[in-house]
Amino acid sequence: MFNTIVIGLFLLCCSLGFTSGSMAQVLYDASNFSAAGRLLQPAPAGHVPGKDNGPGTGTHNAGDDCGVCHTPGGKAGNFVFTVGGTVYEDRTARRTLKNAEIILQDVQGNTISMTSNEAGNFWTFAELASNPCAVSSHGTTMDYLYTLSNGVCVPTVPSSDSRTWQYKAWVKYGDQVRHMATVAPIGGASATTARMGCSMHHAGMGSRGGLWGMKKDTLTVYPASNLSFKKHILPIFRNKCAPCHIPGSTTTRIATRSDIDPAATGTLTTVDYSNGQDFTSYSGSTVGAAVKKGIGDFTAGYQSDPDSSPLLAHTLLQSSGTVTHGGGGFWTTADGDYKAIRQWIAEGALP
Ligand code: HEC
Ligand code: HEC
Repeated sequence: MFNTIVIGLFLLCCSLGFTSGSMAQVLYDASNFSAAGRLLQPAPAGHVPGKDNGPGTGTHNAGDDCGVCHTPGGKAGNFVFTVGGTVYEDRTARRTLKNAEIILQDVQGNTISMTSNEAGNFWTFAELASNPCAVSSHGTTMDYLYTLSNGVCVPTVPSSDSRTWQYKAWVKYGDQVRHMATVAPIGGASATTARMGCSMHHAGMGSRGGLWGMKKDTLTVYPASNLSFKKHILPIFRNKCAPCHIPGSTTTRIATRSDIDPAATGTLTTVDYSNGQDFTSYSGSTVGAAVKKGIGDFTAGYQSDPDSSPLLAHTLLQSSGTVTHGGGGFWTTADGDYKAIRQWIAEGALP
């Protein structure tokens, strides 16, 4: 099974001089080469965390787009990473996070692992495999970086072209694993322009999510009674449940052959990560999936047993490590955010 695709992060995917390398021919497979196909794939295990950490100290410019300087011909052109960035505690990006593991799996199945340093920074010079069926999209324009020969993608650019580097990414911290929820392009708009930093498309509350580990509670303090959705619970959902539980679908921006609707060339696939459940407003949303559920569907009837509400039961970290929820586990019953939601449901889930 081939692996693929990437997803989002704070990563900064820089570039680099690559050995030309033999371009292995990989058969197109939708399940492996699309965001939808890899939506809920668990993070690879069995490797040494941090095995691909780049050498150096690298504590400067946390949160900035490393690629601005660490790019061929740039201010730090002597250190051109393949991937680099900053990881944060949560999507609000208030505090950086050290000792988080950033895991990538490329299209050939190679696992790359980096751990964040005391500034939250990470970087690697490890090579990333090219997706032979890569398409580079910018705006509505798409550059097909392959031709087809008997149904097999034959790349038209060298494997050193960072636009073809594709991977899926996860961030692991303690017992939590966040997988990046959208598929983002690596590399600049052309083979020669500066590589796009992951922090460009995965900034704090950006639509594509952040690179976050999420150990801390969202609310530092909350009242003993009368919690409201708007004031207390929405910030938790915005912090931890977006970008998945938002109205409607997300359009994949990176494109591989399988990300393009075959019936309408040029149309990017949309992936609904929300399962039709929008937690960004009390009443939910009418956009997107056929079956839509709102806050009321998960709170009404749970006043006397709030722990059984799917909002909590479905998202609880399992001691077995089993993942029962598409978005993974988020909390234990002792965590502040969990307790706040439990109290709010018990009080009648006030708007
Ligand atoms: C504003 C420009 C700029 C940005 C942004 C930047 N760097 Fe650097 N970085 C430099 C310069 C300049 C050097 C020194 C280059 C040299 O000595 O040739 C350097 C060197 C490094 C080195 C090698 C020296 C050391 O500290 O061990 C690492 C590692 C590094 N940077 C990591 C990062 C990471 C990770 C990011 C993004 C979070 C980043 N840098 C963002 C300018 C920048
Ligand atoms: C990475 C994307 C992602 C994130 C982040 C995420 N979810 Fe989900 N969620 C899903 C997917 C996919 C499904 C559908 C599959 C499933 O039921 O697990 C889902 C389903 C659910 C359901 C539906 C259960 C049912 O009975 O229908 C609930 C409730 C839920 N999520 C709550 C949450 C809460 C609360 C958060 C934040 C603490 C959260 N999710 C964060 C992806 C995500």
